[in-house]
Amino acid sequence: MSRIAYVDGVYRPHGDAAVHIEDRGYQFADGIYEVIAVRGGKLIDEALHLARLRRSLAELRIEGAIADAPLKVVLREVIRRNGVVNGIVYLQITRGIAPRDHAFPKAARPVVVVTARRSRPANPKVAEEGIGVITIPDIRWQRCDIKTISLIGNVLGKQQAREAGAYEAWMVDGDGHVTEGTSTNAWIVTGDNLVVTRAAENAILNGVTRQALIAIIRREGYQFAERPFTVAEAKAAREAFLTSTTSDVTPVVAIDGQPVANGVPGLLTQTLRADYLVHVAE
Ligand code: PDD
Repeated sequence: MSRIAYVDGVYRPHGDAAVHIEDRGYQFADGIYEVIAVRGGKLIDEALHLARLRRSLAELRIEGAIADAPLKVVLREVIRRNGVVNGIVYLQITRGIAPRDHAFPKAARPVVVVTARRSRPANPKVAEEGIGVITIPDIRWQRCDIKTISLIGNVLGKQQAREAGAYEAWMVDGDGHVTEGTSTNAWIVTGDNLVVTRAAENAILNGVTRQALIAIIRREGYQFAERPFTVAEAKAAREAFLTSTTSDVTPVVAIDGQPVANGVPGLLTQTLRADYLVHVAE
């Protein structure tokens, strides 16, 4: 089956799909995006993703974008045309096409791009054995709560992780607190079994997986705090893990090459992962 992309109202062969060279996404990274998991043909936590999409659009003051109802049709159509049962759908909305000028154009209308991709089930070793992260300075801007396509800080951080042989880089703010991973949220479990993740303020993206997991944690009655934690606290933690649409709940067993506790996935992490996978299956 050949891949199909949706670009500004038209379904096109993926290889020919293109945007205008003066699309503001291309020139200014002036746009927002979402990545939604598809499992068993269903969109996981679609409503939370669409709510975050609306929030991102509002924060960037991108007006007149496609409404939820037609957007949901497009998402399903792209998934169907690409035969995706398990994978992801990627959705991007930019401010539109206009002669290059930093200020908002008067006449542009938002351009929507939707692609979908099948993915093989994640390598089970990742969840069974856990992964390593490095810590790096957070060099990004002060509105990381907006899911913008401006991701160069994240790109450079992920590359640094790859080159260090790590799965992810946890970014650290000026006070020595972990903000988040380059494409994941960061969590620890303290010695007294308190689950900790940073509160969803401007410094992090409020992950949909994060939101879904917090609901599970509250329902199951685990001790939980939304607060910053330092790199030292993470290194001394009983457990650590990360969350995202494409990583679910993944144990972190090493930070900067140092094992977290005894260097194997934590029990509570594994329970939360299992609970999260039940949520996805439902
Ligand atoms: N990344 N933090 C950042 C900086 C992210 O880019 C992401 C998601 C997350 C986790 O959010 P969610 O649980 O909604 O996936 C946290 C997506 C998957 C990406 O850019 O590919």
